[in-house]
Amino acid sequence: MTIDDRWASTGEPPEVRERRRAAPERSTSRDLERYAGLFASRTRVMKSSAMRDIMAVTARPEVITLAGGLPDTSSFPPETLAAATTRLAYESAARALQYGPTEGLIEAKECIAEVMAADGMRCDPEDVVVTTGGQQVIDLVTKTLIDPGDVVVAEAPTYPGAVPVFLSYEADVVQVETDSDGMRIDLLEETLERLEREGRRPKFVYTIPSFQNPSGVTMSIERRRRLVEVAHERELLVLEDNPYALLRYEGSPVPTLHALDGGVFVMYLGTFSKILSPGLRLGWVVAPPPVLEKINLGKQAADLCTSTFTQLLVKAYFDEADWRDYVDSLTEIYRSRRDTMLDALAESFPPEAEWTRPAGGLFIWATLPDFIDTTDLLARALRDDVAFVPGEAAYLDGRGRSSMRLNFSAVDDDAIREGVRRIGKVVAEQVALYGTLTGRRAPAPSRGDARPAPADRDEAARAPGGDPGAGEGAHARPDSDSDAAAAGGAPGGRADGSAGARVFPLRRGGGRAERR
Ligand SMILES: Cc1ncc(COP(=O)(O)O)c(C=O)c1O
Repeated sequence: MTIDDRWASTGEPPEVRERRRAAPERSTSRDLERYAGLFASRTRVMKSSAMRDIMAVTARPEVITLAGGLPDTSSFPPETLAAATTRLAYESAARALQYGPTEGLIEAKECIAEVMAADGMRCDPEDVVVTTGGQQVIDLVTKTLIDPGDVVVAEAPTYPGAVPVFLSYEADVVQVETDSDGMRIDLLEETLERLEREGRRPKFVYTIPSFQNPSGVTMSIERRRRLVEVAHERELLVLEDNPYALLRYEGSPVPTLHALDGGVFVMYLGTFSKILSPGLRLGWVVAPPPVLEKINLGKQAADLCTSTFTQLLVKAYFDEADWRDYVDSLTEIYRSRRDTMLDALAESFPPEAEWTRPAGGLFIWATLPDFIDTTDLLARALRDDVAFVPGEAAYLDGRGRSSMRLNFSAVDDDAIREGVRRIGKVVAEQVALYGTLTGRRAPAPSRGDARPAPADRDEAARAPGGDPGAGEGAHARPDSDSDAAAAGGAPGGRADGSAGARVFPLRRGGGRAERR
């Protein structure tokens, strides 16, 4: 009998088939026992990314997903892709199919320098390591800097995809509140003081200052300046994660932290995922040389190098077309979808809800009354074939339970309207149930839960406008008739009693998105 005959029926040799038959079903308790003793202790705190889990559930075509952070790749012109791929094949086939240097190819680094220049930064290709997506930057920076128990300071809420990375390296993540001007740097300083008293020095601050994932808010220029000063005063590294800044729908660009700092303490994460394609898995990091060297070593161990094929494909694309034109077309599409979502929220969400009004990026952060748990709500919403990311995924301490992240880039206007209508319906059911059970009207979200709210009413009232970037994340609505004010949230009505804000994200009736 030939090998082919032996494997013919199953595609595997009989002894393998036999072993498989004798093996227990996947994930029985015996199975878990058998492997559990082998796992590294760090796996105990490893956690799946909530977004990945949700995306698996929402793979069904009938589900309208407002959950992912997906760009609309269907808008990319196929003929441009074909031209770039053909150019790549004829001009650089052998190199594109070969391994490359760990730090990346010079051609890709030159494209990266061009993208950074478009966002007001100068970078020497020598200071760049090309990575397998921006996600790898978060992983490599954490791998380079964090020993178990070391502190990472992150925003509250933070990028849900960073949470499992920090957990895998057993970081102690301390989250600092944000409001509509981004991370509260005054609270960051208080946190740093407290940590210092405890003898703990954070290894780095992780921030997404522009059109933050998940909240959509942008850090004001004043706060950016102060953050850079704090970094210099304390010799503190900052990881600036910046996938969205070029997707701006209104207002003027704000300088990046990297531009303000000159690359001394700010490590910069960039990616082609949102301005071109996440399928290419192409990102980059710019960091001070000693840090970059360690990152490079970490990357060698992780994957030797980033795909040379996609690096050279980006180069071919940059030669073939003007990449800025595509970003402009995305900006048009997403601005309109953001407006559609804001209108749909005003129409379909109950008066007790509030939400941010991003001036760019892909996300709106909505907050519901405290008694609604958005993880439970998601289960109900999925029954109606619609998905979002529950706010809890953006926190490490269980906060965010009554918030949700909504994405407006991935589906068309009709799907956005229908998706928001369906979520609004399940929210309304919860609100009605609360009313029936308690005999009371649902209170507006309390200030203690997770939502970006500006620190100062006047500051918020002049935003957006004035200083570039100030208060862009929220629609300032200096009204006095708000439900939240009636519910005890009058100026500074945070649940924790601290001085907070009374002017916060767009409320029902807050009007259509302003177009400028
Ligand atoms: C803030 C932030 N950082 C990093 C990433 C990872 O992006 P990439 O596709 O480049 O790995 C994302 C993706 O959504 C993101 O939103």
